[in-house]
Amino acid sequence: MSYLLVTSRCPITHDNVRGKHVVKENVGGVATGLRNMMKKEGGVWVCWGDGNLDHEYQEEDYEGYKIVRVLINQREKNGFYDEFSNGTLWPLFHYFRDRIKINNIGYKYYKAVNEKFADKIAKYINKDIKIWVHDYQLTLVPGILRTKGIKNFTIFSWHIPWVASEFYAILPRARDILESMVQSNMITFHNDQYSRNFRNSCEKLLFGEYNLENKLFAYSLGIDYEYFSSAETNQRLKESFKDKKIIFSIDRLDYTKGLTNRVLAIENLMRRYPHYHGKFVYVMVVTPSRTSVSEYMAMKRDLEMTIGRVNGQYGDLEWTPIVYMYRKISGPTLLSYYRIADIALITPLIDGLNLVSKEFVAATEHGMLILSLFAGAIYNLPQAVIVNPNDLDAMADAIDRCIKMPLEEIRQRLTAMKNSVHVRDIRWWIYKIDGTSEKIKNGSFALE
Ligand code: G6P
Repeated sequence: MSYLLVTSRCPITHDNVRGKHVVKENVGGVATGLRNMMKKEGGVWVCWGDGNLDHEYQEEDYEGYKIVRVLINQREKNGFYDEFSNGTLWPLFHYFRDRIKINNIGYKYYKAVNEKFADKIAKYINKDIKIWVHDYQLTLVPGILRTKGIKNFTIFSWHIPWVASEFYAILPRARDILESMVQSNMITFHNDQYSRNFRNSCEKLLFGEYNLENKLFAYSLGIDYEYFSSAETNQRLKESFKDKKIIFSIDRLDYTKGLTNRVLAIENLMRRYPHYHGKFVYVMVVTPSRTSVSEYMAMKRDLEMTIGRVNGQYGDLEWTPIVYMYRKISGPTLLSYYRIADIALITPLIDGLNLVSKEFVAATEHGMLILSLFAGAIYNLPQAVIVNPNDLDAMADAIDRCIKMPLEEIRQRLTAMKNSVHVRDIRWWIYKIDGTSEKIKNGSFALE
């Protein structure tokens, strides 16, 4: 199996940081799993070179495969990334009606950048290679490839929710995107709900001019289970919390993640269960994201004001309820937090999947997961304590329930969740998609 992978982000980035050449790895998420596959099998990885030295590495041999970088200028970046991908498509696909910006200029650049991706693909293609395109930044690529006469087997993997057809139809370019995507040979989602919504969108907008037979699949993305389950407990870190219960979360700073609601839930917990004063700490790690998109910076101010208010109201010299960190943390530090946490509070307002919940389950030996009803991962983790993140009372009750949960119950729930995450790990995901694509390619899928 050899692939020509197409993603917006590259596996590594070259930057000049104060005169020093820094190579930064893009860790986490789908990138890690795909890297392992590429290391083993070789192939070509086409991605956007957004590092300030990436123009010197337009083509690079790296750990057994080739990285090919698409270069775009500042105006193209604004239109493609800030405006259309993250100002229009991201809020659309997360049901944020009021945040959707409809603007034709953004789309023009989005299309132009998708064309640049297709040009690079055309240069590096060979007859047998399969093309594997990822996510909402690159929806027009399959269609452009077909107009260039490229007929290679093409897989499209969608990593965010696909919304109900009535909502999707708000987008003026809704048809163009579908027309391109349906030209892939296979389209994958993280659950059946998204796949059904996609099918309904085609029915609503394409009026029968498409064929989805043996094309749509739902495979939930997995994690590197061995890596996360090998975490060790950092005793010093654990002791620094004394005997307090540790509630933990890590998210990109994004309005989809429900961060302010979580802080309000902590406030509510204090109001309704005052005996928890001084008995827990909520470690909230928020990693900077999309800082060039204006909404994201406004949200930071809101969140930080709310954290300040709650800490101001309930904290004292001895105790601060919320320890907030706005920065990236290293892989080993993240593992240490997963290991010492008693509760992971993963409550997005909506999330395509949420890998953090799976990572925590793999790493913890004693912790309980509170998971939002609106995270795609609930289909894999029904034994979590499931909450509606809009119901602040339910959130506070869920924390109380987890603090009191008998060890035996935690053990039973964890065993089931660990098993689910272990069986459907990242290798399973790649293997399923690759295996299914082979069957479709040689016609045997239709016969089953
Ligand atoms: C989500 C998307 C990815 C994206 C990631 C980080 O997980 O599904 O496609 O790469 O967020 O966002 P960024 O804008 O930094 O690429």
